[in-house]
Amino acid sequence: MSNVIDGKAFAANVRSDVARKVSTLKQDHNITPGLAVVLVGEDPASQVYVRNKGKQTIECGMESMEHKLPDTTTQAELVALVEKLNADPSVNGILVQLPLPDQIDADAVIGTIDPDKDVDGFHVINVGRLAIGEKSMVPCTPLGCIMMLKDHHGDLSGKNAVVVGRSNIVGKPMAALLLAENCTVTIAHSRTADLPAVCRAADIIVAAVGRPEMVLGDWIKPGATVIDVGINRIEGENGKSKLVGDVNFAEAAEHAGAITPVPGGVGPMTIACLLANTVTATCRQHGISEPD
Ligand code: GUN
Repeated sequence: MSNVIDGKAFAANVRSDVARKVSTLKQDHNITPGLAVVLVGEDPASQVYVRNKGKQTIECGMESMEHKLPDTTTQAELVALVEKLNADPSVNGILVQLPLPDQIDADAVIGTIDPDKDVDGFHVINVGRLAIGEKSMVPCTPLGCIMMLKDHHGDLSGKNAVVVGRSNIVGKPMAALLLAENCTVTIAHSRTADLPAVCRAADIIVAAVGRPEMVLGDWIKPGATVIDVGINRIEGENGKSKLVGDVNFAEAAEHAGAITPVPGGVGPMTIACLLANTVTATCRQHGISEPD
């Protein structure tokens, strides 16, 4: 049985680091970081995320500004709000919750966020900065994954890492982060030939495809580290719905050296990293070094 990485406990540590830094920023610089979250429409999952983000932002001592707009909002109205937030010095981080209603072009809206306030790391400027190894805002889920991997392994140099999934939000930035840690990185996807064989060569597998329990036990090299980004709701044996990842946990745990569970693995790290990014963005905007 492998070591199960406790993402909940890890995220609690990240949040307490954030709270300590926020307290130092207030005491030493009279700065309270502010995070603006914009929600358009009534998507139930998005409402839950936004509520949790607001609650955790306040718990860390930061200011939370929530902007809830109707699902009839036009692109021009949303862009006008983002521009107002860009110009507001009390707003250090801006997050526009995705998905957006069909009438709005998400890429165009993200492109109007000030890259230095883009705590999601989705703006092309931040994507480019990350790709060339410059200081950037890093997308929260891959940032959480790399933090857990570095905590578990220490040095990642020379490891064979396979990222399954090539999304802009997880797969591609994850690969960039692993490369920056000197891993040998493969990005696998739906057209990859013999995916099980590709995975079997991996010291580190990051599964981010959105397919329930797709990665099987015999795809895992003995002792490998498995990071499961998937959150899929499926019907359990008792007819009740349950959450599973992109990895068949019971099988994979028989082979892996360490594995993240679902729920309680990567999930809790995403908001914790958003809070950490907000502190980082605040410090950069004020030209001060981040407190220890
Ligand atoms: N919707 C689901 N996850 C995310 C996220 O990390 N950021 C944004 N902006 N929207 C999301």
